[in-house]
Amino acid sequence: MSADDQKRLAGEAAAQHVEAGMIVGLGTGSTAAWFVKALAARNLSGLRCVPTSEKTADLARELGLTLSTLEDTPRIDLTVDGADEIGPGLALIKGGGAALLREKLVWEASARCIVIADAAKVVPVLGTFPLPIEVVAFGHKTTGNRIADVLADHDIAAPARVRQADRGLVRTDGGNLIYDAACKAITDPARLADDLKLITGVVEHGLFLDLADLAIIGHDDDVETIT
Ligand code: 5RP
Repeated sequence: MSADDQKRLAGEAAAQHVEAGMIVGLGTGSTAAWFVKALAARNLSGLRCVPTSEKTADLARELGLTLSTLEDTPRIDLTVDGADEIGPGLALIKGGGAALLREKLVWEASARCIVIADAAKVVPVLGTFPLPIEVVAFGHKTTGNRIADVLADHDIAAPARVRQADRGLVRTDGGNLIYDAACKAITDPARLADDLKLITGVVEHGLFLDLADLAIIGHDDDVETIT
């Protein structure tokens, strides 16, 4: 079975946690897309969905889901989203799809959050996947240097690199840039999270700590749940 099949199994299992009338946060990425498809297929009445990116909003709209915003529905019952890494205690790295700011806003507004992923995303220590850090474009090189200083304080030698695509710098839905920090191993995620937030110019980082209530991991024939 491919990683994509495992993502589909996890997305379909998560859709079973949604009940009619709920306000549901929709994550971003290929795994979250499987959830959105499975949710739409259930055709539950009275759902309102808050997407975490323009891409997810487009998909949800196409599938006939009713969309809302965090302004109109500030209390979300359940958010389901993917992750780049799932570490001990359901500590996560997110932001591979550059949606981490909206994702974190929606997760933090949610009574319950389920993270869904293929089996390869579960790791003993966070940090192999480069940590995404969203920064404002103004003075971003200065901010990048300050991020490097903080990483050095955490014994992380690799510099953070601004994310590029074929057509130039990657912009988030909010117009910001992403720096990716190849940390290798994040030994104290909570301290790193606090230190990154103190940098002027850093809007948010991809460490999602104490936010996930449940992980649903797709394996070849089944799903595993981790609490
Ligand atoms: C987007 C994210 C995604 O959830 C994360 O990158 C996982 O993506 P995928 O499900 O495609 O593997 O954080 O910002």
